[in-house]
Amino acid sequence: MKKRIVLVVAVFLVSTCAWGESDPGRGWARAQMCAGCHGIADYRTAYPEVYSVPKLGGQEAAYIVKSLQDYKSGVRKHPTMNAIAATLSDQDMADLAAYYDTNKGAK
Ligand code: HEC
Repeated sequence: MKKRIVLVVAVFLVSTCAWGESDPGRGWARAQMCAGCHGIADYRTAYPEVYSVPKLGGQEAAYIVKSLQDYKSGVRKHPTMNAIAATLSDQDMADLAAYYDTNKGAK
């Protein structure tokens, strides 16, 4: 019983401490919508529209954030990613980048 209370307090503390910083856990939740494309084996979308989709897992957080900001601002052009990045806040980008940076196997 006591152990359970300690665990609940620990989880609470961890989640509050993470507030305002990049959080790989929140990034994971967000990344579920990215896996539809970036999670495809061989990193390609299927026939008939075959184009390669870069692997995100293990990429540098700074690179991922920069890419997403460039898609959002239109500096980097790709219709799909421009539309997706437009829906992401700076916090979302930081969380996603933290998730992909710390999970080499993530898609
Ligand atoms: C509908 C398919 C699709 C979805 C969904 C998608 N992406 Fe992408 N993404 C792509 C494609 C295709 C590219 C390559 C575009 C290019 O050549 O610039 C790309 C490129 C990227 C890049 C640049 C990678 C590099 O190596 O330069 C990042 C970062 C990225 N996506 C992040 C995300 C994140 C984060 C999400 C979810 C919030 C997401 N994508 C959802 C298709 C998708």
